[in-house]
Amino acid sequence: MNAAPYLPRLDRLRRLMLATVLLCGVAASSMAAPEAAISPQRARSLYLLHCSGCHQPDGSGSPRFGVPTMRGMLGKFQQSSAGRAFLVQAPGARNAHITDAELAALTNWALLAFSPATLPAGFQPYTTEQVSRWRANPPLDVAGARAAIVSRFGN
Ligand code: HEC
Repeated sequence: MNAAPYLPRLDRLRRLMLATVLLCGVAASSMAAPEAAISPQRARSLYLLHCSGCHQPDGSGSPRFGVPTMRGMLGKFQQSSAGRAFLVQAPGARNAHITDAELAALTNWALLAFSPATLPAGFQPYTTEQVSRWRANPPLDVAGARAAIVSRFGN
């Protein structure tokens, strides 16, 4: 038996398989789970994995080394839409290797874990769509944007 005549077919099969794998990848990324499908446990794990090295497991940061505390603070950023946007635009959040849905779920989890008492009445959890929009349009001057937001914090 000579296998040669089957080679072109095998080649076509291989290309078909590759195309299928690529298509599945595209479908999976466009159907990525929305933030609501990510459990608080998963959000906490993402925080521990991607953020706690600098922000500490309890969110207290290292103010001496320029990592601000999240405790009793994150909720205040919910007073304005610029403040809400800022929490997902801070460099460590924006550049983390996690999806927009994961960052939304992580931020919603962190707000409740680290700053529940400062959440304004009527607080709306972050949606994936908001995170996508804000994450893609960060302020050029991060420190300046933060200073402007914090100066308008009410009690
Ligand atoms: C390498 C250290 C590091 C890592 C990792 C990191 N951050 Fe940060 N983060 C900082 C520093 C430093 C600041 C202060 C602002 C700045 O210089 O970027 C900050 C600021 C922030 C702020 C703004 C808080 C405020 O009061 O201004 C948020 C929100 C934030 N980070 C979220 C995250 C999230 C969410 C993650 C994980 C996905 C993360 N960070 C990972 C170092 C880090």
